[in-house]
Amino acid sequence: MKSSKKLPFSDELAERKGDHIALAQRARTLSGEIDTRFNYEPLFFSHPQESDTWKTKFLGFELDYPLWISSMTGGTNHAKNINENLARLCGEFHLGMGLGSCRSLLTDCSRLNEFAVKKYMGSSPLYANIGIAQVEELLANNSESLLHEMVKMVEADGLIIHINPLQEWFQPEGDRFKVSPLETLKRFLEKFEYPVVVKEVGQGMGPRSLRALLELPIAGIELGAFGGTNFTLLENLRGTNDPNREGFILVGHTALEMVEVLNALPTRNKEIIISGGIKTMLDGYELKSKLKTNSVIGMASAFLAPALKDYETLRNYFLSQREALLTAKSLLELRGEA
Ligand SMILES: Cc1cc2nc3c(=O)[nH]c(=O)nc-3n(C[C@H](O)[C@H](O)[C@H](O)COP(=O)(O)O)c2cc1C
Repeated sequence: MKSSKKLPFSDELAERKGDHIALAQRARTLSGEIDTRFNYEPLFFSHPQESDTWKTKFLGFELDYPLWISSMTGGTNHAKNINENLARLCGEFHLGMGLGSCRSLLTDCSRLNEFAVKKYMGSSPLYANIGIAQVEELLANNSESLLHEMVKMVEADGLIIHINPLQEWFQPEGDRFKVSPLETLKRFLEKFEYPVVVKEVGQGMGPRSLRALLELPIAGIELGAFGGTNFTLLENLRGTNDPNREGFILVGHTALEMVEVLNALPTRNKEIIISGGIKTMLDGYELKSKLKTNSVIGMASAFLAPALKDYETLRNYFLSQREALLTAKSLLELRGEA
């Protein structure tokens, strides 16, 4: 097997040839295992260079890659480190990023340093984040100016509003919506001052909700689809333990399903963050290639573990993602699309 020492070329070659013989029996595939999503086109391929980009205009910004770090954290002790690492990555490679819920800043600025990462982002977009329940409450109290101040405070380029009825229901201390998210959004959007993106948090959304969102004056939709991190399940793990609720954990829509629904609707220039269960760049590339409207690939939990460690770990993780994405782009085409 591959030794860690640098060997003379002839020894290295001999070692490799030995490996090939030793591993050949284990390296066999079955024709039924083939990934049928793509045509494989090696004749048009060259390996990505370090300087290669996939320039993408998104929400008025020019990104070097169609990648978005989905909203995760803030308001907890690890958040500063995680958010700084993620924002540095976005600044270095021109990616977009959503902050985790900035709710704590509505009433108290003591945790502002966990969210104040715009300075690391360079010219990349940073979006603030808030739950629909807080928007409903602020509107009811005529205090939505607090939200506008919060967006300014974190120097965000826009606001992501998450719609999470099941999470709130499963959360012991969760909020209850008194009016529908659609009504709240319509009221909020009468007087908003910055681009707004609406997302779910791991359940996705059905066709009626997507159609309604496409008719609102928002800049974009983040799928937050089923198939990855799921906040209803997460709240259940925190101890909901109600057999009458548990079945709801598995309802929702995958990113693929949502992409197909969006393709069948007039998307009215809305831009889309394809997120929720994007486990590999092959999945992201497939969905981005399928979706007819302008989009980026969003990932949350995949970035969490490397971001928790240190910047170098996160950067190396990203470089391997980037290489996979650029390789997919130049080597693979969606079947039926060529
Ligand atoms: C630790 C963690 C915290 C999150 N916090 C938020 C949040 O505050 N607001 C939000 O809109 N989504 C939040 N999400 C949901 C993600 O933005 C995303 O929609 C979801 O995790 C699905 O993406 P994934 O499968 O790539 O993890 C969080 C996700 C994780 C993993």
